[in-house]
Amino acid sequence: MGVKTIMVIGAGQMGAGIAQVCAQAGYEVFLNDLKPEFVERGLSGIKKNLNRNVEKGRMTAAQMEAAVSRIAASTDLQDAGKADLVIEAAVENMDIKAKIFAQLDEIAPEHAILASNTSSLPITEIAAATKRPEKVIGMHFMNPVPVMKLVEIIRGLATAEEVYQTIEEITKTLDKVPVEVNDFPGFVSNRILMPMINEAIYTLYEGVAEKEAIDEVMKLGMNHPMGPLTLADFIGLDTCLYIMETLHEGFGDDKYRPCPLLRKYVKAGWLGKKSGRGFYTYE
Ligand code: CAA
Repeated sequence: MGVKTIMVIGAGQMGAGIAQVCAQAGYEVFLNDLKPEFVERGLSGIKKNLNRNVEKGRMTAAQMEAAVSRIAASTDLQDAGKADLVIEAAVENMDIKAKIFAQLDEIAPEHAILASNTSSLPITEIAAATKRPEKVIGMHFMNPVPVMKLVEIIRGLATAEEVYQTIEEITKTLDKVPVEVNDFPGFVSNRILMPMINEAIYTLYEGVAEKEAIDEVMKLGMNHPMGPLTLADFIGLDTCLYIMETLHEGFGDDKYRPCPLLRKYVKAGWLGKKSGRGFYTYE
């Protein structure tokens, strides 16, 4: 399956990062979001990142220009008609994703693969919203996308072997390492990461230690690059809560119960770095 043009749905931190690495790898990219200002924000983040690469001597100004010129801004889902692969990185909500995939199924060429960057929702259920479940697959990138090497590749129940092989190859062309996992809530990454973060929040909630102490223990004691509360702020507390709820509902086991403090922060609009306040405050 020859993939030349990739459409990325959602120009937030994940979508913009995915568009960036695809353009750097030489693919033609449509970066799509609902409003032009969302796409613009994504594009300006990409330019900032690429500029840093030029300053650090990792790419030339001409290479940066070429990468940027490969990204077309899009606010019309009809652009999927020109895509060989669509990577959806919209909000983590099954109803919204199902609606997007049903629309993409109508618009995208017959040969096109429809991938989701979902961090925990079932690929099989997303695929069921289309008439091409064999061409639907999970491609779970990590944040920050330009830095993190992993892409979890999730097979839905009906994903064709040929589609899996194509996505594995494309992932390698993005200079990422594909790891194959099966379709269960949270896959592997968030099944393990989120309960750890949730436990760190319980540790704060129960007054075992101050937030800085909890983060310091995990940074210095376990060599994690960020403490779990800093990481939760970085991921977004709404996303953390949503993933915990998906695990809780999917497995029905109380060990995945989201910490009440996490719920409280999200209700207060303290969503982490992106809202200026989470466990810590940001400029
Ligand atoms: N975009 C692009 N590049 C970035 C970046 C960003 N948002 N943030 C940092 N970088 C780059 C920096 O430019 C720097 O590059 P150079 O080496 O060229 O200078 C490099 O990353 C290291 O950055 P810093 O020196 O500023 O800081 P650091 O050493 O603390 O590294 C980090 C930053 C890479 C983010 C590191 O703290 C880290 O690995 N944190 C953990 C990240 C993590 O766990 N991600 C997974 C989250 S879970 C997820 O994404 C899945 C999900 O479904 C929720």
